[in-house]
Amino acid sequence: MLTNDRLAQWDRDAFLHPSTHLAQHARGESPGRILRSGTGVHVEDRDGTRFLDAFAGLYCVNVGYGRREIAEAIAAQAHELAYYHAYMGHGTEAAITLAHMVLERAPEGMSKVYFGLGGSDANETNVKIVWYVNNVLGRPEKKTIISRWRGYHGSGLMTGSLTGLELFHRAFDLPLARVVHTEAPYYFRRPRPEMTEAEFTAHCAAELEALIEREGPDTIAAFVAEPVLGTGGIVPPPAGYWEAIQPILRRHDILLVLDEVVTGFGRLGTMFGATHYGIRPDIITVAKGLTSAYAPLSGSIVSERVWKVLEEGTDRLGPFGHGWTYSAHPIGAAAGVANLRLIDSLGLVGNAADVGPYLLGRMREALADHPHVGEVRGAGMLCAVELVEDRDSRVFFDPARRIGPQVAATLLERSRVIARAMPQGDIIGFAPPLCLTREEADRIVAATVDAVHAVLGPGGGT
Ligand SMILES: Cc1ncc(COP(=O)(O)O)c(C=O)c1O
Repeated sequence: MLTNDRLAQWDRDAFLHPSTHLAQHARGESPGRILRSGTGVHVEDRDGTRFLDAFAGLYCVNVGYGRREIAEAIAAQAHELAYYHAYMGHGTEAAITLAHMVLERAPEGMSKVYFGLGGSDANETNVKIVWYVNNVLGRPEKKTIISRWRGYHGSGLMTGSLTGLELFHRAFDLPLARVVHTEAPYYFRRPRPEMTEAEFTAHCAAELEALIEREGPDTIAAFVAEPVLGTGGIVPPPAGYWEAIQPILRRHDILLVLDEVVTGFGRLGTMFGATHYGIRPDIITVAKGLTSAYAPLSGSIVSERVWKVLEEGTDRLGPFGHGWTYSAHPIGAAAGVANLRLIDSLGLVGNAADVGPYLLGRMREALADHPHVGEVRGAGMLCAVELVEDRDSRVFFDPARRIGPQVAATLLERSRVIARAMPQGDIIGFAPPLCLTREEADRIVAATVDAVHAVLGPGGGT
């Protein structure tokens, strides 16, 4: 990285970065980087150094970088009509077409799409829809939302509260009232090592049921969850989890908001995580893969059942008093239409179903026996390597040693592969663009082995 140019100085002087150690960055001590271009799974910084981005930005550039089809669709939309709002029934060709395309791809039972800008605001919308629905249904006490520890649902006020990661609460006075958290479905970190997977699933279900009983079923409005925990550690659920959870929600008339911001549009090797795990949501959150991040856009997809209540609500109360200036922004929508077409024409969902398990399999072969590798896990084009002090007794490293960040930094320095040190635990996350090839997967695995060996030794010994 250039250390003596004005852009780097302006960056330190003027730019307040999200999710960054602000003081270190301002002092020039943080590992920030100024990116300039990207093609396929690679990005390049201002010095011309090329990196394999094995995290697709923030698991969002699903089609890969540099897709002309999307760039041209954005340009054409900007020339023709850069903006019009969607209030009071207005629309654009792009937004209407995208709504139709999303529903064509959505799981059974979904009815309409509201468009926002990002995952956080989409989840804020979802909470408001849930509250509105229960007010229309005449049950104003049924308002509490349950999410899971280690769930990630954004960093707004409500969504930061739903997020079950301490970093997103600390010193922000979160979580707010009306949000409670239940057990993370994280088998590797189960409370008692002797628990079988089936016992752990039953434990998660019992914990949920007990929380509902404690709070009072008449006060619980919704359960918000990702199909696979993402930022909380890239953790697929234990076997039978969704089969155990859904009947509990149905029994207590609790809406299921399925946060598919990461999993929507192919990441798990299926168009949606709901179909992957047999989940029947009432509302689905989408963002990232909706446009592959070529422009900001998110969606709240509501089921027919929720839609009917919204319809009845506006007949009784007047117009739906919710929206942003940029809801259904035509440039985002044009990017979305081109992106979904590209996902289909390039067969990227099928590629994720093929190359994702290949990446996971190779990573397991290469690292599962390492004494400091506790678990190699994944689903579709998601993979994680969890590092531990002692595998057999499942002792974790002292977080102060920052083993995960060290391994990710080593991957970057020695092999120019970008992985993500997940925020809570020594977990190296991989979520490459869905166009990853087997050769690129091999490169990621070789680089990860090299970095783990460099930091932790080939057979242990720190
Ligand atoms: C599952 C999930 N939901 C919501 C969000 C928030 O999305 P955004 O960062 O676009 O607000 C994220 C972001 O990573 C996410 O992973």
